[in-house]
Amino acid sequence: MKLNLKIWRQKNATEKGSMVSYPIDNISPDMSFLEMIDALNNMLILRNEEPVAFDHDCREGICGMCSMFINGEAHGPDRNVTTCQLHMRKFKDGDTITIEPFRAKAFPVIRDLVVDRSSFDRVQQAGGFVSINTSGNTQDANAIPIEKNKADLAFDAAACIGCGACVATCKNSSAMLFVGAKVSQYALLPQGKVEATQRVQNMVAQMDLEGFGNCTNTGACEVECPKGISLENIARMNREYLSASLKG
Ligand code: SF4
Ligand code: FES
Repeated sequence: MKLNLKIWRQKNATEKGSMVSYPIDNISPDMSFLEMIDALNNMLILRNEEPVAFDHDCREGICGMCSMFINGEAHGPDRNVTTCQLHMRKFKDGDTITIEPFRAKAFPVIRDLVVDRSSFDRVQQAGGFVSINTSGNTQDANAIPIEKNKADLAFDAAACIGCGACVATCKNSSAMLFVGAKVSQYALLPQGKVEATQRVQNMVAQMDLEGFGNCTNTGACEVECPKGISLENIARMNREYLSASLKG
């Protein structure tokens, strides 16, 4: 395949960036999107030009690093896949493909397609954990009965990989799908109930502090989420928050 790539190039966090065109040839439809960028970077290195900086790690849809906007969509045109699992067969020979970083106030661009998503880490640190008694009298987690439907819902929420596509897609740059998934993951399980009141309040407070916007029920986040995280998690977080506020 022959393609025309239009890629956001930005030297660092302070300099202004711009779109740069790169015609590229010999792209196999079986390549992943990241392998296609690897091919471009090999070409740029051979020409003594700066390769395009982009985030990636697992290349298996697990780590949530490969976040980019492709033709105006987070993780590109396919549904329920990350950029690393997107294949070039989803594009046609001769296509122009625009590639940009995720854009949100809480995700500042560091370089080219790389953004700083440490705001997510700080939200997670504010409450995305359970404290375990390690005194020697620890209860075996497998000995605690959990209703099947609750275990399934908690597992679905835990599938969030923290990629940030929900934030980048939302017109308000809201992180409520991400935080809703993290709150739900614990709120649904007995192990998470002990700290539930503080958890939701602390995570929501940190989310606001980081500059994420509010949810206005557009639902675009759910459509673009590569892990199919449901909007129900936002509703559950809102219920958890209300009940925590009433408890004080
Ligand atoms: S909710 Fe979906 S889009 Fe948002 S961070 Fe988690 S996996 Fe990514
Ligand atoms: S590189 Fe890990 S999810 Fe894509």
